This record gives sequence, structure tokens and C-alpha cells, in this order.
Amino acid sequence: MIPQSFIQDLLNRVDIVDVVERYVPLKRAGANYVACCPFHSEKSPSFTVSQTKQFYHCFGCGAHGTAIGFMIEYAGLGFIDAVKDLAQTAGMQVPETKFEKPRNKTDEGDDLHEVMLKAAQYYRQQLKSAPRAIEYLKKRGLSGEVAKDFGVGYAPAAWQNLQEAFPDYNAKSLVAAGLVIQSDEGKRYDRFRDRIMFPIVDTRGHIIGFGGRVLDQGEPKYLNSPETALFEKGRELYGLYQGRRAIRDAGCVIVVEGYMDVVALAQHGVGYAVATLGTATTPTHVQKLLRQTEEVVFCFDGDNAGRKAAWRALENSLEQLVDGKQLSFLFLPQGEDPDSYVRKFGKEVFEKLLRDAKPLSQFLLDELKSQVDIQTPEGRAKLLQEAAPRIKLVAAPLLSLMLRKQLSQIAGITQQELDAQFQIKSVSTARTLPRINNAAVKPLARSLIELVMLDSGVARDIDLAALREIGKSGEGVSELRTLTALLDVATAGAAVVSWPEYFRESEHAALLKQIEPTLLRRQELNLSTEELRVEFHDGWGNLLRQIEHGNDKENVEKHGFTRDDVDRWSVTRGIGGPKVNE
Ligand code: UTP
Ligand code: MN
Repeated sequence: MIPQSFIQDLLNRVDIVDVVERYVPLKRAGANYVACCPFHSEKSPSFTVSQTKQFYHCFGCGAHGTAIGFMIEYAGLGFIDAVKDLAQTAGMQVPETKFEKPRNKTDEGDDLHEVMLKAAQYYRQQLKSAPRAIEYLKKRGLSGEVAKDFGVGYAPAAWQNLQEAFPDYNAKSLVAAGLVIQSDEGKRYDRFRDRIMFPIVDTRGHIIGFGGRVLDQGEPKYLNSPETALFEKGRELYGLYQGRRAIRDAGCVIVVEGYMDVVALAQHGVGYAVATLGTATTPTHVQKLLRQTEEVVFCFDGDNAGRKAAWRALENSLEQLVDGKQLSFLFLPQGEDPDSYVRKFGKEVFEKLLRDAKPLSQFLLDELKSQVDIQTPEGRAKLLQEAAPRIKLVAAPLLSLMLRKQLSQIAGITQQELDAQFQIKSVSTARTLPRINNAAVKPLARSLIELVMLDSGVARDIDLAALREIGKSGEGVSELRTLTALLDVATAGAAVVSWPEYFRESEHAALLKQIEPTLLRRQELNLSTEELRVEFHDGWGNLLRQIEHGNDKENVEKHGFTRDDVDRWSVTRGIGGPKVNE
């Protein structure tokens, strides 16, 4: 693997203009460079290379990428070769890609997976001859069957029990596996003594760690394996391996806090629970779970600590959210944990509770609301301020939209106002645009075409996204389509000598030929680019308004095409150069 940081350095070091220029002659056009697109056949340049943004974009075929992407797509290199090639031109050395030793192998060649398995087998064996431990498990309502499913065992009380399982008690692998502790004086002893042992299993079924519970009182209540080459707490979930089938069948996974919660739920027929291992829920946890199932329910105690843990889980989930998948939060009554609850009330009652879990969106908004005085403008402002950084993390576009809508309602502002405050660009969703009043639009579009033909610089800072929407909307209006095509080229900064020639074989040719002679009259006025530009912007605004008002109301309502949309569309970008879809 080439480290991501190297890729970044490389992209900072090379200049995409040089890279592309090695293969495709570029012409300067404003802030950018243009050429006929090397990825599709065309007669007029719609291929743009942005030096400031360091990527290429073709307005014709949508080809798009960085310098590395260009080498892959154009020069046909593989990723590694593309990186090597560019690194060479930049005088950089690609870090050696070392073959990584599997994590479970020690330097001595021992297999830590085998060590852990052997230890687990030993602990299970020991449980059979430990009445005190069996008694404890029975007291907690565990059947032999479930104990077996989870591989529950017992570590005896002596200091060097594992010597029985491992004849070479001095092997480095025992320390590497976290089973044996070596003191400063070089003395060795078992980490786990007189504890109920819960093996922690990774998704491939390898034992990677243990949690050991004291039988009576004692500190710590649970002793966990240290982080080792095999075991990283923030990535692993207890019970995920054992519960994989039940999770699939239920389409749902419950995240609880404790080993015993998972085991007790399984004992009562709720096999789809997993536990974090004495840590907060991490983004990796959430990602892992969302890959396996549609729905994740976090189940926490109803006390303060539980709410805090839930909030942490929420914050660590925001970036992992995916539309169509659901996260929710279930708070148990004071004093209960899933283990005690399911033992008292049984599976049905617990599952009913599950169905009433609070969706993440609701938990988020409720919690934020509870921290402010919603009756006052100050409180509502604070609410927005607190919500902004969190909602911005939400990667799922539809959920993000829903949250913003709800939040704006709570705060008593419009969603547009909220988005503007949050600096969220509204995603233009695919929608059918309303029918257009041809009679009014045609002449407007035509005069805009004239202006672009006179001086393509007039359209420099037109919002290209708006243009595309309008272009799409102009189904029946060929003038509008032609204007779109022209602006596409003009905003890309192409220098066009003859527009009819440029669009010779397209549907636009006839109209452009027809317009060309009329330009002469305008040329006689000898207007400056600045004056033409003002005229263009006036016309552009009129066109947008015409598109709005020219529609029958019904259409407007049906398609959600609002005054705000038009206002948004008519905002110009101010700075030259095409706005490339990022
Ligand atoms: P709890 O203290 O809530 O215990 O710890 P519990 O799960 O209800 O355990 P029982 O029912 O008394 O047996 C919740 C989880 O936090 C971690 C463990 O993963 C535990 O299951 N924990 C707790 C530790 O890692 N170490 C501890 O000392 C205590
Ligand atoms: Mn408990």
C-alpha cells in the first residue's frame, strides 16, 4: 500500500497542467486551460484543466479527475504505475511497499490465533471442574448451552495455570497474546486468575482477546485483554461473531454495554446483540455494524451515564450514516440493564421496547432542544449553533435534508435560511421542471445568445449549475437549449471565432447562422465588454423570472419550483472561470 500522505504530497507537488500537456496541447482560457477532450471525440474544446483546483473536467463527457486519474485514464497506467510515473517527474521517491507480516504471526513464527484458541480451550476445560464458577453462572441464569455457544470458561485462582496448557510458559507469544504478564524482575504470571472468561472473537471466528469477570466482589469487575497485535478495542464488538446469523435474520443489531447483557439476551432468544468492550462506541464500530445490517439500536441504561454514552455513540455515528439505514436509541428504565431487564420481563416485552426506540434524528433534536430555552430567540440561536457542526457531519444526503427541515421548523426559520447559515449548498435533486412559456422565453434567450456570440466574456460568472437546470427545462424551446450549449462553452473559457462554425453539425447550427448577420447591427454600437455584460445580466435575470412566472401555478406547486430556487439560480459566482462540479 502506498500511504495516503504520500499521494497527497505527490498531488501537491505535480502540476496537472504539465501532466496533461505531455499528451494534450492546452490553450489558456482565463483562469483555466482548455482543449478538445481526449476522452471523447469533439470538434470544440469542452475539456478544461483547472490549475488552481488541480483537476481536469470535460463538460462534454463528464471525464473528471486529478493528475493521477489522468495518467490512469489517458495513459492507461495502473494506479501504482501512475503514482510512480508522476513521482519520477516530481523527483519523489515512492515509499517501498513492504510485504506485511500477518498480524497473528510473531517474530518467532508463533501463531497468536492458535495461542488464544488453546487458552480458551483450557479455560473451558477448567470450568467443568470449578463448581463455584458453575454455580455463579447458574445464578445468573445461564444455561450450559449458551455458555458453550459463547465459549465461556474459567481461569483458576493460581498464578501460573497456563503452564498446564503451554509447556513452554516462557514463550514470548504468551506475553504477546496478553495472557501472561512479565514483571520487571522477569517473573511471569497469568493475567487472568479466578475469573469467568468470555472469549472475544473477531468476525472471522478467531479468538483475539478475553474479558474476565470476578466471581464475587473485586476490582476490576471485568479485566480485559490488553491491546495486542490481534486485539484493538475500538474495532471489536463482543458477540458479533456468535450473533451473525441472528443479526441477519432480524435485520437488526442491538448494541449494549456489557458482556453479560449480550449473553443474557441470547439466553432469552434475543441473539442479535453485541457489546462494545468497555469503550465508547467508535465510528469504526458503527461502520462495521452498518455493513452487516439495516438497523442498529443502541441500548443504554436510563441513567445519566447511559445518556452520556448514548450521546457519544450518536456523535460517533453521524459521519457513518447511510440513507436507508436506521439508527435508534433505547433507554431502559432506571436501574435496569438489558441483562436484568430481559430476565425480569422476557423477550416479548424487551422486543416491544425495541420497536419504540427513538430514531437518531429525534434523539439528536430532543437532546439539543433540552439544552436551550426554545422560547427565546437566543435559545433558538444557541440551538442552531449547537446543531450546525453535528448536522454538517451527516453524510447521508436525505437524512441531512430531513434534519435541516426539522431543525428549521423548530427554530422558526426557513430551510433556505438555515442552509445559508450552515453554509450548506442545496443539493439539486433530480426533479421535473415546469413547463415553460415559450412565447416569452424565446426572444429573451435569443438576445442572450446574441450577446454571448458578440463577446463570450459576458457570461464569465454565470452559475453553471443554474444554467444546466434551465437548459434541461427548456425541452420545447430550442433557443434555450442553444443558449445552454453556448454558455457551456463560454463559461469554460473557450475562445470561439465563429459560433456557427463551432456548432456546425449540431442542432444549434441553423439558429446561430440565422442570428449571425443580426450581430452586425449590434457591433455598430461598439459597446464595451462591460456594457455588454450588464446587458447580459439584466437579460439573464429576466429570463429566470420569466421561467418562473411563465408557469401555471399548478406546475409550480407540483414540482416544488419556487421563487427561492430562482433567486438561488440567479446568483452569480463573481469570480471568473468555470465552476466545475466537485
Ligand atoms: P457494568 O459495570 O455495567 O457491568 O459494565 P455489567 O455489564 O452490568 O456486568 P455484570 O452484569 O455486573 O456482570 C459494563 C461493561 O463495561 C466493561 C465491561 O465490558 C462490562 O461488561 N467493564 C466494566 C470493564 O471493562 N471493566 C470493568 O471493571 C467494568
Ligand atoms: Mn449487569
